[in-house]
Amino acid sequence: MLATRTLKNVLTFQVNFSLLLKKSKIALIKAEDALKSEGESKAKLERLRFKSETTPSQNKNAENELKKEALPVWICFQNLKEKIVKETKISDQHLTPEILLHLITPECRLFNARLTAELENLFKNDPFWGFYWPGGQALKRPDLVKGKSVLDVGCGCGATSIAAIKKNAKYALANDTDEAAGCSVLVNAELNSIDLCKLFISSRNLIGSPVEEEVICIGDLFYDEEIADILFPWLDNLADAGKMILIGDPGRHGLSTTKMPFLTKLAAYDLTANCCIENKGFKNVFVWKFR
Ligand SMILES: C[S@@+](CC[C@H](N)C(=O)[O-])C[C@H]1O[C@@H](n2cnc3c(N)ncnc32)[C@H](O)[C@@H]1O
Repeated sequence: MLATRTLKNVLTFQVNFSLLLKKSKIALIKAEDALKSEGESKAKLERLRFKSETTPSQNKNAENELKKEALPVWICFQNLKEKIVKETKISDQHLTPEILLHLITPECRLFNARLTAELENLFKNDPFWGFYWPGGQALKRPDLVKGKSVLDVGCGCGATSIAAIKKNAKYALANDTDEAAGCSVLVNAELNSIDLCKLFISSRNLIGSPVEEEVICIGDLFYDEEIADILFPWLDNLADAGKMILIGDPGRHGLSTTKMPFLTKLAAYDLTANCCIENKGFKNVFVWKFR
C-alpha cells in the first residue's frame, strides 16, 4: 500500500505540475533520489513514473526547482495534451455516459479523413486512446473494485481507471505502453474532476511482472492470439496469487474457445449504436472473471 506521505507528494506534485505547465511548454520532474531516501522500493518508483520522450535539457531550471520539492517522476508534454484536446471531441456516447471523454468521434478529422502526412505524424503511434473500446466500456464494475487497488492494463483513454476511482477504488494504476495514452488519461481525469491522488500512470510494459494491485482490469486487449498467449500465463500466475482479474471483451480472436474454460461470465451489455458501427460485427460485450 502506498504511504500517505507518498500520496501527499503526488498531490503536491500535481499542484506544482499544473503551475509549471502554465509557465513552460515542457515539464520534467525528477525525484528518484529523494524517494529512494524515503525507502521507497524500485517497483513503487516505477509505478509513480510517467515517462515521455521529453528532452530535459530545455528545462533545467524547472527540473531543479522541482527536484527540491522531492516529487515523484512524472513527465508530460504540454503540447501533447494540447494536441489531444485539439484532435478530439468530448463525448458521452458510450455505456458510461457519466464519464466524459476526449475521443476521436466522426466529427474529428482523424476519424475517417484520408490521412495526410501531417495527420500521420501527429502522434507517434495509432491513437487507440482516442476510442473507448467495447471491452473497456464493459468494465464498469464499481461494486467489485470498491476499496480495492486497481491495475488497468492497456488503459487507452483511462475510462476504466476513472470509473474505478469514481466508485471509491483505493487507487487506480492506468497502464498503457503508448505514452500518448498516458497523457490522454490525465486529460480525461481532469475533465472528470477525478481525485488525482488516487490516479497513477505508467507507460511500462507490465505484462509478466509482479503486480501489487488487488484487481486487474483488462479492456479489449485480446485483439489477437499472439498477445493472448503472452497475457494468459501471466494472468494465470496472478490468479494463483489471489488477484481478481476482470476482462472486458466483445469476442475478439484472442479469447478463442481454448481460453473459455478459464473464464466465468459476470455480465453482458448491448453496445450503443455508434459503438456497433465503430466495431463492425460486434453488438454485445462481456465481462469475464479469470477462473
Ligand atoms: C484496443 S485498446 C483498449 C483501450 C482501453 N482498455 C479501452 O477498452 O478503451 C488496447 C490498448 O492496449 C495498449 N497496449 C498494447 N499492448 C500493451 C502492453 N503490453 N501493455 C500495456 N498496454 C498495451 C495499446 O496501446 C492500446 O491503447
